[in-house]
Amino acid sequence: MRALVIYESIFGNTQAVAEAIAAGLGEGLGEGAEVECVEVGAAPEGVEAGREIIVVGGPTHAWSMSRAGTRAGAREQAKERGQAAVSRGVGVREWLARLSKRSERGYAATFDTALRPRAWFPVGSAAQAAGRALEDRRYRLLVEPEHFFVNGIDGPLEDGEVARARAWGAALVARRRASATVPRRPRRRPGERVGEIVANLVGLIVINLYALWLPFTFGVVTDDFADVVPALSAFALLTIVDHVAALAVGTPRAGLVADVLAAALAIAGTAVVLRVFPFDFGAIGLPWIALIAHGVLIFALVVGCIRLVADLLRFGFHEARALADG
Ligand SMILES: Cc1cc2nc3c(=O)[nH]c(=O)nc-3n(C[C@H](O)[C@H](O)[C@H](O)COP(=O)(O)O)c2cc1C
Repeated sequence: MRALVIYESIFGNTQAVAEAIAAGLGEGLGEGAEVECVEVGAAPEGVEAGREIIVVGGPTHAWSMSRAGTRAGAREQAKERGQAAVSRGVGVREWLARLSKRSERGYAATFDTALRPRAWFPVGSAAQAAGRALEDRRYRLLVEPEHFFVNGIDGPLEDGEVARARAWGAALVARRRASATVPRRPRRRPGERVGEIVANLVGLIVINLYALWLPFTFGVVTDDFADVVPALSAFALLTIVDHVAALAVGTPRAGLVADVLAAALAIAGTAVVLRVFPFDFGAIGLPWIALIAHGVLIFALVVGCIRLVADLLRFGFHEARALADG
């Protein structure tokens, strides 16, 4: 069996983890193992046929894989500390972007180095993002993306992390031999979740400032709008908490549960508006628009229900796979 480890590292911590993982892979594969551990700038474009396991890892920068800007900042910090950066060219983000989406199906694993999360504040994950990129390129992940923790921006790694990386590498071999994989990353990306948090926050503010804008709707939005404000505010607030919790926990299961809850809350909000229907299109002499508005709300309700069923099924499949994989 042949394995390939591709890593990116500025201060050397991810490099140390990658080398330990490669050693673990070699240990797991035993006699005749062929394991290469390559810095991403020196890595070939694409993965040659016959690599049974590929492992990709890099440092978490700004909640995800590094970008040219974050790498430049990190290299500057390394220079100030009198240290030469390990990776001086592209990062794993660029290497993954160049991988063909039409490659042979393969087995992969991803890891990152990151600061340990403090309280509820999310630290993000390069490994999650790299995992999604690999899944988009027909790879199946052998295990959930893994973090190895550093004590500070430039390290060092926490005690025991190198040994843990070695054991993690060896364990990948057993997973590959059993062709055991984990469910695909959640559909929603962290950026989309942040977008929904912002959208709900804006909605919450707009809804609650209704006294300011109601007079400017020429009577189309009626005083009954006050009746929907408490319910819509509660749903928007719960949706925000839901997405923040999913980002903070960061696991696929938390993401799937959050999606189910968000879909249910969206249905509840639409149902409240449909029931109260705080609109009077007769005020502008176009009463027939009420019919269209009812149609749009009912359509939104149906789409919301379909989304809820799809999210529930996705969660069910995830749990079934998790059970089957032990
Ligand atoms: C520009 C920059 C942004 C960072 N952003 C994060 C972050 O969002 N979350 C986190 O846990 N660590 C963050 N870190 C800390 C890195 O994860 C840490 O520097 C890395 O694990 C060290 O790995 P390396 O020695 O291989 O470069 C950041 C570091 C830099 C330089």
